[in-house]
Amino acid sequence: MPDAPKPSSASPSRLNPDLGEQHDVVEIHAALQREKPEPQDGFEPINLWLVALTGGLLFWGGYYLANFSGRFEGNEYSELPHGQATAVAPPETPEQKTLRIGAQLYNNCAACHLADGAGNPALNIPPLAGSDWVQAEGPNRIIRVVLHGLSGPIKVNGTVWQGNAMNPWRKTADNPAGLADEEIAAVLSYVRNSWGNKGSFVTAEEVKAISEATKTRSDPWTEAELLEVPVKGGSAGATAPSITAATNAPVDLASLKAHLQELPPDQLKALLEAVKAK
Ligand code: HEC
Repeated sequence: MPDAPKPSSASPSRLNPDLGEQHDVVEIHAALQREKPEPQDGFEPINLWLVALTGGLLFWGGYYLANFSGRFEGNEYSELPHGQATAVAPPETPEQKTLRIGAQLYNNCAACHLADGAGNPALNIPPLAGSDWVQAEGPNRIIRVVLHGLSGPIKVNGTVWQGNAMNPWRKTADNPAGLADEEIAAVLSYVRNSWGNKGSFVTAEEVKAISEATKTRSDPWTEAELLEVPVKGGSAGATAPSITAATNAPVDLASLKAHLQELPPDQLKALLEAVKAK
């Protein structure tokens, strides 16, 4: 009997024909390994990049709103400054400006009279707050005090102060750190309208007129001298002599008129008032 071909599992046979299939073990396992495990619920860790991105977006969003939201106001495009859609803040008035400058200049005086104008009894420095000199109807006397200083006893609100003296503030070549006419006006306006004080504003013209009229003076004033000066009106008798001369002479109306026109306005006004009073 001829040897029948042995059936073999390893080689193709008629009983186990190889139909072109390849059984590559490695390939089969690779396919298995690619399979994912079944998904399951649980507290899976969040991707940190996602956290960072979300945080970044929130921060940017807040920043954007803070800067470009227009405050969520309907008047965002109004030309007026914000919060002033209905009423614009009024500009500083000349009085407010004078008081602001005067307050700064008062630093010069505060060293002695103190910031609240209360004076300093320990150093014999009288108060400006509530002072009858400061609140006199006109500033003629206190302008002089600031221009040339003050010494000797002085009665303020019924109390006599003495033992100290006030330095002159008039700006001169010898006293370059002094105050100009308009600065004296501003500081006295401030003093006359602070700490409850009430008084008219002092103008640079008033200070100038008195400063001119007392140009040659270098001594500080005394109370007695000051009391002779009328508190208000004109430059307080300072340049009156030339008027007296004019009126004592046989009156030449033309020259009198020319003379009057040369007078500073406040002196002219005071003169006219004096004439009217007669
Ligand atoms: C060095 C200290 C000193 C400084 C600075 C000074 N004063 Fe005086 N002031 C005095 C003294 C002291 C008296 C009183 C003088 C006396 O006893 O004769 C006085 C008196 C006065 C008076 C009259 C009296 C009264 O109390 O009302 C006025 C007004 C015044 N000072 C305003 C000023 C102003 C305004 C300034 C600033 C520009 C100023 N003083 C700066 C020391 C000072």
